[in-house]
Amino acid sequence: MDLVLFGPPGAGKGTQAQFLVESYKIPQISTGDMLRAAVKAGTPLGVKAQEIMAQGGLVSDDIVLGIVAERIVQDDCCAGFVLDGFPRTIPQADALDLILKQAGRAIDHVISLEVDTEEIVKRLSGRRSCPSCGKGYHITFDAPKEEGVCDICGSSLVQRADDQEDTVRNRLLVYEQQTAPLKEYYRSKHVLCSIPGMGAIAEIQQRIINALVS
Ligand code: AP5
Ligand code: ZN
Repeated sequence: MDLVLFGPPGAGKGTQAQFLVESYKIPQISTGDMLRAAVKAGTPLGVKAQEIMAQGGLVSDDIVLGIVAERIVQDDCCAGFVLDGFPRTIPQADALDLILKQAGRAIDHVISLEVDTEEIVKRLSGRRSCPSCGKGYHITFDAPKEEGVCDICGSSLVQRADDQEDTVRNRLLVYEQQTAPLKEYYRSKHVLCSIPGMGAIAEIQQRIINALVS
């Protein structure tokens, strides 16, 4: 099953991708995670992306398409994938369509998570993650057992540089201008399913399951 998890920053795409990975045995492809790994490793691509990401802007389509095109043809994507944070522009969506078409595939579902702006700011300012094993947390909504410490591996949790409130608001603006138009793009292809992204994580998970089986 070829899925796109769509929605504004902080809508819960990364959170909900986890159960899809486990339930459907397909990999999560997060362009944000891949770009952050490149920044951390200091690769030429990471150096290019770093400043744009810190400001909450979009990395160029060429760079992002390069990394996705390479990833999507790997063996573990044969049975499908969950795209998280990609596509984010119309040219990215067109290029994705073409890559999949050449492989005789197409996007099956685009799940769009709808969340209010102020809830997003709350979610992102409280988000923390484990730098060692990658597990995500929220200081209020999904807190670790011991404050600031990963439940799984015991590492100290960190906050993303672009989760400061000013940057979050800029990311939301960029989303409205450049990414939200993709909803119409996928609606016209009859694969868009809008889901309320407010409420408990488990409730939203159930809404996604219902959408995928209907
Ligand atoms: P990326 O990493 O993709 O960030 P994003 O889209 O802004 O999304 P987030 O990861 O912030 O949010 P999410 O929806 O995954 O929410 P999460 O589940 O973590 O991109 C970062 C940057 O990379 C971009 O700004 C851009 O510069 C660049 N980039 C990436 N892809 C690109 C592309 N395709 N083209 C160009 N540039 C690109 O949840 C957030 C928090 O809320 C967590 O703490 C979580 O625990 C909590 N939470 C989740 N669900 C709930 C709930 N139901 N109730 C309460 N809390 C909840
Ligand atoms: Zn950990």
